[in-house]
Amino acid sequence: MPILETKRLILRPWQLDDLEDFHAYAKVKGVGEAAGWPPHNTLEDTEQVLKVFMATAGHQAIWHKQDQKVIGSLGVHVRDAMEPGHEGKKFRHLGFVLAKDYWGAGLMTEAVRRLLEAWFEDHHLDVMFCGHFDINMRSQRVVEKCGFIKIGEGPYESKLLRRTFNQIRYKLTRERYESVKKDW
Ligand SMILES: CC(C)(COP(=O)(O)OP(=O)(O)OC[C@H]1O[C@@H](n2cnc3c(N)ncnc32)[C@H](O)[C@@H]1OP(=O)(O)O)[C@@H](O)C(=O)NCCC(=O)NCCS
Repeated sequence: MPILETKRLILRPWQLDDLEDFHAYAKVKGVGEAAGWPPHNTLEDTEQVLKVFMATAGHQAIWHKQDQKVIGSLGVHVRDAMEPGHEGKKFRHLGFVLAKDYWGAGLMTEAVRRLLEAWFEDHHLDVMFCGHFDINMRSQRVVEKCGFIKIGEGPYESKLLRRTFNQIRYKLTRERYESVKKDW
């Protein structure tokens, strides 16, 4: 994925020198848990994850232009479809996390919309799937504001948190993307 830009953000590949910024938000309680992972206790915990992000396609850091630092992440993953009927289609799964100090300013919606634009328009995506735990109303608003449609719900087992959550599942088809993007 090439570097993408929005009014306030740059979405770009992770780098080793993002370690401190990444750790600063990943150690905060209530951030990772909402996405299925526990707070990072040490810089080494963060370094391990950072190296995986750097070695695996689909991970991008969210760089805040004004504050000149990484404030979150986006992940676009290859996984099984969340519902039947997508054989032969190109689909991916979206995940995202933002540093707590930056919540509520529309930043994740801005980042996700730009990423969707790139995937549907430059990478010929047919469907993007996304899911959030049923208690995560902030995430629900982000996916709704990006045009995702609920397709169901079911258990999601987080091995890292040793807990099963009820996950609300969504999809955004190319047709729906083309109709909602006019209002972005
Ligand atoms: C979910 C998350 C990415 C949202 O990022 P963000 O930049 O704050 O999102 P936005 O500002 O674009 O939108 C947040 C929406 O939630 C709403 N919101 C905020 N607090 C809320 C609450 N307690 N209950 C319901 N809605 C709430 C905001 O009003 C806003 O909606 P609006 O535009 O209709 O007013 C961020 O909170 C986060 O990283 N959380 C922890 C990790 C996580 O949950 N990741 C997603 C896993 S699926």
